[in-house]
Amino acid sequence: MPDHEQDQGLQEARALLASARKVCVLTGAGVSAESGVPTFRGEEGLWKSFRAEELATPHAFRRDPRTVWEWYDWRRGRIRGCVPNPGHYALARLALGARSVRIVTQNVDGLHEVAAREAAGSRDPSPALPLEVHGSIFRVRCTSCTYRIPHRDRVRTESEAVLPRCPVCGSLLRPDVVWFGEALDSRVLEEAFESARGASVCLVAGTSALVQPAASVPLATLEGGGSVVEVNPADTPLTSMADVALRGPSGEILPRLVEGLLP
Ligand code: OAD
Ligand code: ZN
Repeated sequence: MPDHEQDQGLQEARALLASARKVCVLTGAGVSAESGVPTFRGEEGLWKSFRAEELATPHAFRRDPRTVWEWYDWRRGRIRGCVPNPGHYALARLALGARSVRIVTQNVDGLHEVAAREAAGSRDPSPALPLEVHGSIFRVRCTSCTYRIPHRDRVRTESEAVLPRCPVCGSLLRPDVVWFGEALDSRVLEEAFESARGASVCLVAGTSALVQPAASVPLATLEGGGSVVEVNPADTPLTSMADVALRGPSGEILPRLVEGLLP
């Protein structure tokens, strides 16, 4: 995209955001790409090297929990070494500013939260803490009871006998993420759609907008009469519905977008 077109898009997007009382932000794997977290789809995507249906499903975990945990332990190891990029920080600064902003993320990597806490410093980070609609890779939950706890450590996977177990009921613990074929947490989902419905702008960054129901979050903003701004190097099914589409990596675009807005 020529520079002047991108500048014009940025100005339009800033104008929409500047007059917005409420903003909903929807992010996907692309916002963490520049932090070194692999995306799911595309050339370097995770689902290219692994068959998702063999690993990220409740059925796979029942059949072979050791292999599923081994894969998650590997992913957690990769993510543990990653830090937020300028895109995460820009969104955190936007959410900590005067406007009412809700960050809804499909990412399970926790990088929005790290950025929120750093950007807040001694202030309260909570306005910038994301709603994690697909869960968190650094939390585990019991496969039988309601036990759920943050968990960042390495997981031993040499045999099924050493896999992590629930201290309450003894059943296997699993990553607290949403797998294929599973429903999203209905309260979290309702909150996401409510914030989208009430928003004058939905800023969508780094998602292929293919996975439902998250992909419909921006549609709720459109139905409520609001606008959609998309940040992505590539076209998505949402692009044709977006009021402004900013082409490029979110680590570069989001700081430029937000910098012109904040006092
Ligand atoms: P995808 O991997 O489907 O899409 C990543 C998107 O990021 C694509 O549209 C890329 O063009 C874009 N992208 C790549 N690099 C980028 C960059 N530097 N800046 C901005 N955008 C960039 O990831 P998601 O849309 O998040 O669900 O996938 C949605 C869900 O599918 C995931 O949450 C996961 C997966 O199955 C579960 O695990 C439940
Ligand atoms: Zn239990």
